[in-house]
Order: sequence, then C-alpha cells, then structure tokens
Amino acid sequence: MTWKYHLMLLWGALHVVQAHEFDSEFVQYIPGEINVIVSIPHGSRSSPTSWPSRRAGCSNTNGYDCFYSSTSSCVPDPNSCSYGYFTDAFTEDIGIEVANVVKQRLGKQPHVLILKVARKKLDVNRPIFNSYNGKYDEGAQGFAPAQAVYDKYHGRLAQIKSQMMGRGILLDIHGQAHKQNSTELGYLFRLDQIEDLINGVDNLETQRRRCGLLSLLDETNASVWDMLLGPNSLGKYLEDQGFKALPGPSTLQMSAATLSGLNYFNGGHTVKEHGSRYSNGKQMDAVQAEIPGEIRWSSSLRPTYAQALGNAFSDFVLHFYPNILV
Ligand SMILES: *[C@@H]1O[C@H](CO)[C@@H](O)[C@H](O)[C@H]1NC(C)=O
Ligand SMILES: *[C@@H]1O[C@H](CO)[C@@H](O)[C@H](O)[C@H]1NC(C)=O
Repeated sequence: MTWKYHLMLLWGALHVVQAHEFDSEFVQYIPGEINVIVSIPHGSRSSPTSWPSRRAGCSNTNGYDCFYSSTSSCVPDPNSCSYGYFTDAFTEDIGIEVANVVKQRLGKQPHVLILKVARKKLDVNRPIFNSYNGKYDEGAQGFAPAQAVYDKYHGRLAQIKSQMMGRGILLDIHGQAHKQNSTELGYLFRLDQIEDLINGVDNLETQRRRCGLLSLLDETNASVWDMLLGPNSLGKYLEDQGFKALPGPSTLQMSAATLSGLNYFNGGHTVKEHGSRYSNGKQMDAVQAEIPGEIRWSSSLRPTYAQALGNAFSDFVLHFYPNILV
C-alpha cells in the first residue's frame, strides 16, 4: 500500500469524525443503523487542565478497601490501590476505521462511541463507585465533572441497548503493550480458565454465564470452546486475516508453559456492564479487543490491521448475528 492510500484512510477517518455530533464536549457519538457498537474509551490525549489528574487510591489498612479521590489529602497507596492511566495510542484511528469497514461490509453504519478525554483524567472502563464499600472508585475518583461525562458515555450505551430489537454486539477497542504481538480478545474468562479449556481440564460449560457473549451462547447452543476457539470464532477470523489473536488458533499451537506465561486482558468494566452477562434480558453481547503495541505504533500496519479487524468482526457478525441486517 502506498502513502497516498494511508492518507486517504486518514482523510476518511477525519471526515467521519467531523460529520457527526457530540453528546457532550467529551463524548463523541456517531449514531448507528444496526445492533453493532464500536466503543473507543482510551484513545484520547485531550486533557482538560482544570480537571485534577487521577491517581492511586488510598487504602484503609487492609489493602482491599480502596478509596479513590483525586482531590482528597489521603496518601495514595499505589501497591494496594493501583490505577490505569496509559493512553491506548492510535486506538481512535484504528477503531474509527474498523467501524468504516463494518459499514462497507454490512452496508449499514454501526454505532460509534468515543471518549474524547484522556484516561489520566477519566477512565470510563472502570467503575466510579465501589459496590462493596460504597466509596469512590478508580473511574472518576469523585470529581463531579468527570462523573457527568462518565454518565453521558454509559448512558449512551444504555440508551442504544434499550432501543435495540433482538441481539447485538459491542466491540470495545483497547491497546496493550504485552510484547506478544497478538490481539487479546476478552470474553470475561481469565487466562487460567482458557488454559483449562485448552488442556481439557475444564470445558467451562458450568461457567458459561460468565461469558461476554452469553446471549449468543444461549441462542446458538454453541460450546464455550466453539465461541472462543472454533472455526467461526472472532480469533479464527482475525488470524485468517493475518494477525494473531489470543485466544485464537495459534494459541492451540503453544506449549502449556508458553501459554501460562502470557499476559492477557480478559475484558473490563464496559464488557461486564453492557454485555449480556448482566443484561437482564437485553441481548447485547460484548467483547474487548486489546490491540498490541507492535501494530498500533506502526504507521504502515495500522491501516492494514484496521481492515483486518473490521473484516474479521464483520465475518463474525454476519455468521452469528444474521438478525441485525433484517
Ligand atoms: C440447547 O441444548 C439443550 C441441551 O442439549 C437442548 O435441550 C435445547 O433444546 C437446545 N436449544 C437449542 C435452541 O438448540
Ligand atoms: C506483528 O504481527 C504482524 C502480523 O503478523 C506483522 O506484520 C508484524 O511484522 C509483527 N511485528 C513485530 C514487531 O513482530
């Protein structure tokens, strides 16, 4: 591909961004025509200077009872009460292009939701309240303007879901730097559970209600194995496009020792909150894609990869969600 093609892709992405509205200064929403959502929470570097920066929480001696406040005078305890603050660089460009590919492939615009404030000021992929101790959690750390943006972001997802007829799916786009050059697909199963699945120790069927794709499992009666590693899994479709996935077919080629030594993000707050796991009858599935640094930081790989992920996700949707196009 030529540099002109890259410029064209970039122009396409910018063009889409400019053409659509904002829910607020910090939440950009491109309305969709189908039950597919692409969300991009960690790609922005826009940092409102009047906002306090998020920081580690303060612990109440036992280490579990963390209290997060960006403005309190308590002493942060980064060991017991850590927080995430890295920008997932280039995930906005990639995510917007993924949505464009989905639109081309499915012929309909997916919903796109982009947080336009830097993660060091607000993390919408974390809770804002700790449901166990009722205290402020990592996300907005008790800062009211950040909390209001958080509510807009999650309120939009809830609104899309409430108007959905039938099943749908959310793809939450993130970036990691695990140096494994593989896209980590998070379905809310931990790596040790995926190891047990692959090693035949546990088929995870008793745990299927944990899965971010629960409504799909219920609908199709597919096994957890099929959904994570089968011929129509998202990981298989992505590897067919030339990029490694975890879990994916290449995972099956690894030795047990290699597999157990990997780093893996299994899906976060948005996938838990808005996916079918807790959806009380609303049939929106959710999966997290953690894109590796090897790809995000390469200006030549980014457009190729965005095409690949867009195609893989479209293949997955076409196979398992035929309802969305009728
Ligand atoms: C799913 O599997 C269960 C158990 O084998 C069976 O009773 C049920 O009819 C199946 N449902 C569908 C939709 O195939
Ligand atoms: C990462 O994987 C992609 C796809 O296979 C490949 O093109 C690229 O060269 C790899 N990057 C590194 C640093 O290994």
